[in-house]
Amino acid sequence: MTYHNILVETRDRVGLIRLNRPKVLNALNEALAGELGRALAAFDADPGIGAIVITGNEKAFAAGADIAAMAEWDYQKVYGDNYITSWESVKHTRKPVIAAVAGYALGGGCELAMMCDLIVAADNAKFGQPEVTIGTMPGMGGTQRLPRAVGKAKAMDWCLTGRMIDAFEAERSGLVARVVPPEKLEDEVLAMAARIAGFSLPVVLKIKEAVNRAYESSLAEGLLFERREFHGTFGLDDQKEGMRAFVEKRKSSFRHR
Ligand code: CAA
Repeated sequence: MTYHNILVETRDRVGLIRLNRPKVLNALNEALAGELGRALAAFDADPGIGAIVITGNEKAFAAGADIAAMAEWDYQKVYGDNYITSWESVKHTRKPVIAAVAGYALGGGCELAMMCDLIVAADNAKFGQPEVTIGTMPGMGGTQRLPRAVGKAKAMDWCLTGRMIDAFEAERSGLVARVVPPEKLEDEVLAMAARIAGFSLPVVLKIKEAVNRAYESSLAEGLLFERREFHGTFGLDDQKEGMRAFVEKRKSSFRHR
């Protein structure tokens, strides 16, 4: 597959996608959304891949939706196109997706990171929802995923003031899982992704699905879903292998089935 707005590579069982519009700080346009969707779908379908990383460059993960492209659009167009739907590919990806964020993750960039399953940030990362400063509002999940991640008070603060949030505040607030030095970001995230990809793929998929269910259901329904999925792992060869390996004091060798 040929891509113009992203770079795609694999590292063993990890798929790595780099957003690649460096001249505009990886501003997110529709072409990039389409390519990202295709790359994610290809990794999701590839049995040799167990985890996916989305990253940018040292200056920007992504500084938001492409303002130059959007500036003259009118209501008829964005409503007619159902603008933003093209980003839902991230949500539909079944394998774990990690956002490795250095530099700016603003507007749609912050929202793209939040669509991923977890965010690891370099200590120079800057998050924010600055849409209010340009006469619009978050449109890729900022008003919905942010309160779930950081609570109402901070989500209101960030969305209504449009201020930038550094990596440490983002980590304290629960948006970011880990903060690392910028020069270690890629290695740390690839090691994390490789570790996840080494576990049983069906188990990893079940865990991702169950954690996501926590945001979409009551506690009672979520706990029941979890228990049934947990029961389901006992139908996997990898559950036998993992538990037998523990009992036999040897390293497990998962076959992803
Ligand atoms: N869209 C299009 N181009 C962008 C962009 C964006 N979101 N962000 C940066 N760029 C471009 C700049 O226009 C500039 O291009 P030129 O060199 O051709 O002038 C280039 O990237 C470098 O940017 P700056 O010169 O501005 O770099 P800086 O270091 O001085 O500032 C910044 C960096 C603070 C991130 C600043 O670029 C900025 O504020 N960007 C916009 C952030 C923003 O408002 N994002 C929200 C977009 S709306 C949205 O995302 C809606 C949604 O929810 C879906």
